[in-house]
Amino acid sequence: MNTDDLYKQSLENKEHFWKEQAREISWFEFPQTIISQNQNHYTQWFADGKLNMCYLCIDKHIEDGFGNETAIIYDSPVTNQKRKYTFYEAREEISKLAGGLLSLGMKKGDTAVIYMPMIPQTLFAMLACARIGVIHNVVFGGFAPNELVVRIDDCKPKALITATAGIEIAKRIPYLPLVEKAIELAQDKVENIIVFNRKLVDNQHEMFDGLVDYEELVQKSQAAECVSVESTHPLYLLYTSGTTGKPKGITRDTGGYATALKFSMKYIYGVEPGETYWAASDFGWAVGHSFSVYGPLINRNTTVIFEGKPIMTPDAGTFWRIISEYKVSVMFTAPTAIRAIKKEDPNGELVKKYDLSHFRKQFLAGERCDVSTLDWFAEHIGVPAIDHWWQTESGWPMLGLMTFDENYKIKRASAGKPIPGYDITIFDENGYELDAHEGYLVIKLPLPPGALLGIWKDNERFQSSYLSQFNGYYFSGDGAIKDEDGYIFITGRVDDVINVAGHRLSTSEMEEIVSTHPDVAECAVVGIDDELKGQVPFATVVLKNGSVISEENIEKEIVKNVREKIGAVACLKNVMTVKRLPKTRSGKILRKLIRTLVDKKEFQIPSTIDDEKIIDEIQQKIIAYKTKKNN
Ligand code: COA
Ligand code: AMP
Repeated sequence: MNTDDLYKQSLENKEHFWKEQAREISWFEFPQTIISQNQNHYTQWFADGKLNMCYLCIDKHIEDGFGNETAIIYDSPVTNQKRKYTFYEAREEISKLAGGLLSLGMKKGDTAVIYMPMIPQTLFAMLACARIGVIHNVVFGGFAPNELVVRIDDCKPKALITATAGIEIAKRIPYLPLVEKAIELAQDKVENIIVFNRKLVDNQHEMFDGLVDYEELVQKSQAAECVSVESTHPLYLLYTSGTTGKPKGITRDTGGYATALKFSMKYIYGVEPGETYWAASDFGWAVGHSFSVYGPLINRNTTVIFEGKPIMTPDAGTFWRIISEYKVSVMFTAPTAIRAIKKEDPNGELVKKYDLSHFRKQFLAGERCDVSTLDWFAEHIGVPAIDHWWQTESGWPMLGLMTFDENYKIKRASAGKPIPGYDITIFDENGYELDAHEGYLVIKLPLPPGALLGIWKDNERFQSSYLSQFNGYYFSGDGAIKDEDGYIFITGRVDDVINVAGHRLSTSEMEEIVSTHPDVAECAVVGIDDELKGQVPFATVVLKNGSVISEENIEKEIVKNVREKIGAVACLKNVMTVKRLPKTRSGKILRKLIRTLVDKKEFQIPSTIDDEKIIDEIQQKIIAYKTKKNN
């Protein structure tokens, strides 16, 4: 079947199509019911099928005779460590950790938060949970304790699995003080705190009472077998930014997800079992779940765990060193990583040091990829750089190219065409289909296997965030335009979500923090263009009457607050004080106008603006602010 046939079949004969795809993975009980609805009248896939994700990733390959093949490569330039794990070795560690979790009273359906850096033990913890039906929630290590608290309070974990420290280039980030603070602030007590001691330096001073040592737990525990779970059993929760300050607990099923990932590895990434596949993403993001852990392992690919950055660890040749050393065939990263490399190594001198003959394809996602980055890649790396689009919610690509079919054609600046299973349309605000005009990207229901089951214990929010805008369609939150050949170009978020270095963050969440400053009367946080990170947040604040704080101090204090509440990763570094914010006559802040003015882009004066004179005022202020910052 070629790409067009696959796409057509996936929509016209869904049930048959996905049943056939489900045969590509091993089930303990193959599903008889392919599509059905859950109690919220939302689609679920393979409801009566039974399987286990850890079995698919590890045990199955051992049973098939591949136990001595390399499952995982850990490469950590920041700690000078390298290590390979075979499927046998991975099973030994994962099954004993799973046994340890059982011995602590964990059982199928419980939740566990994993707050760890890019080390193999994070992957082991995820798979150990999956092995016994515990639902994991990985929290990105760059988030501050507050973010951890929000997740703990929402998913009420029975265990928190963490490590003593992460390393950011040369800086050691101790995790335990952050965990201790989060535990203190959380509403409920977490019964078990399991710590992997990295023994990087003397960690003793960080320890607090009641911790379980990860290694001791593994050593003393009996190996646990894979439990059989229903296809709809949640494998994990992954919190992502929405349009309110509170992150949404995207809930992923097991059977639909496993089927979709197997399909992706073969058809989208075009990678064969046994090859090395590397997604350079943190485990804390959707890419880390789908394409650093589950996708490649289901497909029996060797996956790479990289603890470092594209630059400075030790230089901008790191990616090419890894690709060469481990014969990586297919790689996935965010455009910001390539931009960072391009900036450090504009002429590709470091690339020339490495043999990239095994490297076939580079996939990019997480944010829009600019054409000059694609040009640099084409000139210096010489393999196709393929943009594709997806979200935490989908769990696998929705737009892209089916590279198993060698006739795939890249159109620069486009994220590709709809992937099988995704019936994608561009709507105007009234739900009329648009051709060759920018509008809202929507997807006709039902979504295919692998897409979100819902928002953890909050169906109302699930409905209002995604399903209520256009009847019968999922609303992506992205703007897009489709060309005459069916290629889709993502134009950016249409809500309060921004992408900073490929990290999805909420400006509403930042506004909530900014507005708690005692001197702030009101504020607006918008995402402005950034050459390296794609976007960075920019805060505009109005001070309370009578406030005497200086502009420098308010900026310093707000930057510190956001860093403490969300984490350094939020990258809020600019806070501009103004006399008033631009608003509509009905009092709504014109955030888009602020963004356009800061980015110095062309704009039309909004017809609803309350007072046009404010535009001039803000423009003057921006010039003064930027001049001051540059000095
Ligand atoms: N733990 C603790 N702190 C972290 C962290 C983590 N896991 N990740 C990032 N941070 C901190 C950084 O140390 C930095 O702190 P600082 O302000 O004190 O220096 C801050 O958060 C911002 O980090 P980052 O966004 O990584 O910016 P950077 O300037 O250090 O590096 C890049 C720039 C482009 C090299 C980097 O952003 C990068 O590698 N991007 C690719 C990310 C990616 O793959 N995203 C895709 C997700 S699907
Ligand atoms: P996340 O849920 O963190 O994966 O972020 C998803 C969001 O990132 C999408 O809604 C888009 O706004 C953006 N995004 C992801 N991939 C792309 C892409 N290829 N081009 C443009 N934007 C993208």
